[in-house]
Amino acid sequence: MSRRRKDEHIAIAKIAKIRKNDFSHIRFIHHSIPSLSLKDIDLSTSFLGHKFNYPFYINAMTGGAKKGDKINAKLAILAQHFGLPLFVGSQSLAFKNKESRLAFETLRFNFPDLFIVANINPNFTAEMASDAVEILGANALAIHVNSVQELVMGEGDRDFTKWKDNIANILKTVKVPVIVKEVGYGMHEPTLLLLQELGVKHIDISGMGGINFSLIELKRQKKKDSPLLDFGISTVDALLLARNYPSFEVLASGGINNASSIIKSLAMGAKAAGMAKYFLDLCNLPVPEMIKKVDELIIDLKKILVLLNVKSVRELNLDHLMFDL
Ligand SMILES: Cc1cc2nc3c(=O)[nH]c(=O)nc-3n(C[C@H](O)[C@H](O)[C@H](O)COP(=O)(O)O)c2cc1C
Repeated sequence: MSRRRKDEHIAIAKIAKIRKNDFSHIRFIHHSIPSLSLKDIDLSTSFLGHKFNYPFYINAMTGGAKKGDKINAKLAILAQHFGLPLFVGSQSLAFKNKESRLAFETLRFNFPDLFIVANINPNFTAEMASDAVEILGANALAIHVNSVQELVMGEGDRDFTKWKDNIANILKTVKVPVIVKEVGYGMHEPTLLLLQELGVKHIDISGMGGINFSLIELKRQKKKDSPLLDFGISTVDALLLARNYPSFEVLASGGINNASSIIKSLAMGAKAAGMAKYFLDLCNLPVPEMIKKVDELIIDLKKILVLLNVKSVRELNLDHLMFDL
């Protein structure tokens, strides 16, 4: 991943418009006579072996590139304020130049208490993966599996023969929880089966419905079409599929950008919901305004739980939803 490519991805993602997605085909089953008070609602949840006050996290985008570091600095302040986990973007650059490595180290230095999730690609050996965790003093590690994106990219990877073995070795070696994460294409049955076989415990199914890297790449390449546009499964479908694999702790992302899609994901079985584009857009605002927006999001989450007559996110399940897919 080059610095320029990373900056271009951010620039194009910033202007991308997210249209309606599968979440809009799910409705809530509300109580006309709820028995709860907003002030008693508990949004806390546990995932990655840690208890968090809120069931959402800042998903992987940047770090180690000029524009990205400014974004990460703002996101880190936000994460610290609310106690949210911060997933950084791919650390590949940190293995290519010292400046980038230093930028990741500085992030941890400036935010010693933050729950930071490191991010690597599956070409990393177990040794490199441990190093990526160490650079950040990371609390968890995400391995992004982005085969469709790589093949859409003109300069992307073409050889995936080591991915499976690398993931298996990383799992054996790395001391923090390891998440295998898609990047907006979702996970189908064969992927879920393989990850289960490898003993993976944490997955971010990151499905379609939000940022679409195929479209971002086409824009970069000034092309109109690609046969690979047919690849991807929606976040909602991937979440429903993942229910057949109870050994996973499931994280949801892909097109989640408001309180209702967060709650719908949790009701479908996710432990927490990740948002990348939502937080990228917030970065256009000064930090106090970003904090105000997240405060509003938290109030919205609580309002939804009151209407569902559910005191804690841990009580959410499919009975709270009506599907019109
Ligand atoms: C600008 C940008 C850069 C991203 N870079 C990474 C990355 O380095 N590593 C990764 O695992 N995912 C990366 N992603 C994918 C997101 O973490 C997420 O899986 C995807 O964008 C879908 O979520 P969203 O609809 O909330 O944006 C990136 C997303 C964006 C928008």
